[in-house]
Amino acid sequence: MAPDSIFEDEAEVFHDIEVLEEDYTPDTILCRDEVMTEYINVLKPIYKGRPPQNAFLYGDTGVGKTAVTNHLTTQLEADIRQKNEDIERQHEQSEQETEEQTQPAVEPDAVDSAAPVDLTIVKVNCQNLTSTGERTSSYQVAIALVNELRPPKDMIASTGYAPQAVYSMLYEEMDALGGTVLVILDEVDRIGADDTILYELPRARANEKVENARIGLIGISNDYTFRSNLSPKVKDTLCETEIKFPAYNAMQLREILRDRASRALYDNTYGDDVIALCAALATRESSGSARKAINLLRRAGEIAENDGRTTILEADVHEAKDDLEYGDMVDSITDQDAHKRYVLAAVAHLSNADATPARVKEVHRAYRAVAESYAADPLSQRGMYNHLTKLAMLGFLTSHDNNEGIKGGQYYEFEFSDEVDRSKVREAFESMGHSWHDVRIHGS
Ligand SMILES: Nc1ncnc2c1ncn2[C@@H]1O[C@H](COP(=O)(O)OP(=O)(O)OP(=O)(O)O)[C@@H](O)[C@H]1O
Ligand SMILES: [Mg+2]
Repeated sequence: MAPDSIFEDEAEVFHDIEVLEEDYTPDTILCRDEVMTEYINVLKPIYKGRPPQNAFLYGDTGVGKTAVTNHLTTQLEADIRQKNEDIERQHEQSEQETEEQTQPAVEPDAVDSAAPVDLTIVKVNCQNLTSTGERTSSYQVAIALVNELRPPKDMIASTGYAPQAVYSMLYEEMDALGGTVLVILDEVDRIGADDTILYELPRARANEKVENARIGLIGISNDYTFRSNLSPKVKDTLCETEIKFPAYNAMQLREILRDRASRALYDNTYGDDVIALCAALATRESSGSARKAINLLRRAGEIAENDGRTTILEADVHEAKDDLEYGDMVDSITDQDAHKRYVLAAVAHLSNADATPARVKEVHRAYRAVAESYAADPLSQRGMYNHLTKLAMLGFLTSHDNNEGIKGGQYYEFEFSDEVDRSKVREAFESMGHSWHDVRIHGS
């Protein structure tokens, strides 16, 4: 049967593709029993109405830090709701029974000791809190928290306030809420060297900044250097409990994938070979990331569908791997600071003009034109050279050492490494919303 629309596929493998989306929260968390036990112990005091604890969660990318956090906080909120309803029901019952002057079914003391729990959870992902591309700071996180707690009409702008004023607003909002306020800062390493907020929040009550609220703080990071560079006073409080999320091994990834696949894909569209290959590649090349394993499966499914097949092949997984690596490279270009991106754009223009490998002077000339085309002040050749060598160190560029003896002297030439080409640089610029400017390469 021919499809009715050009957008229709003759064959489909996805039963519910949303199950493979990044923001999908799985109902069941597999292979994380130990970590979950530790995490539940951190959250237990909240459920019991005791002062909250602080914790720091760390582990490589894609090992379930965010997924487990979402799962457990949702569960905590649901269980507290249930507990409060039960308490209220008991209260009503005992009041009724007192009125009827019958023997109370529940000891009055028992009712009083089980006070309802008042919990507010505020989650902020510290990644990309600024629109201007500068690094997120404690200040920006404090503003984001204020805005999370305020109705839209009272939100504040991300600049123009003294830091202390922002903290005052934050404490005021928290105190107005009262009860337990659990602050969860995901990707907390984005705040960089200034970790003020991480020692402000856990100490707010002791320092009499808040009276009614009890603040708990959970920080999440995949950056080990951030963890080891935290100031001692932050380590004392935030890292009261540390929970390490280990990488998944191939067996565990298979189990997670099988579960996801059974919800996302039609039966008989994939075999265990495909699951095993996704798991193996994610273990070997992405240090046990469940995200990578899931993305590989999803992309492989799309490749099969686009090809009009209802079966995913191992070859689709290999192709998926190449596709995703391309995307990863574009992302890591996007992550570089502006001058490094201009340098990469300069090398892209030189390569387009067949002028690579290029000498530093030539790269600088192209770089200057690029920077100016984006209305930025170009760095001197020496300033740019630092970025150029960093980019070579990071594997974006390759440098060649040329020695022409007495006649030409020694000089370096630069070109893209095998993993990068100009289309990736251009794609990175465009994905950031910057149009790609054509720059004239002199002498070409
Ligand atoms: N144990 C698990 N069971 C089911 N799904 C999981 C499990 N662990 C991770 N996942 C899934 O893998 C993906 C990545 O997990 P998650 O986002 O939690 O990683 P992360 O540790 O927060 O990584 P990052 O440091 O990059 O933020 C998500 O789609 C998540 O649902
Ligand atoms: Mg995460």
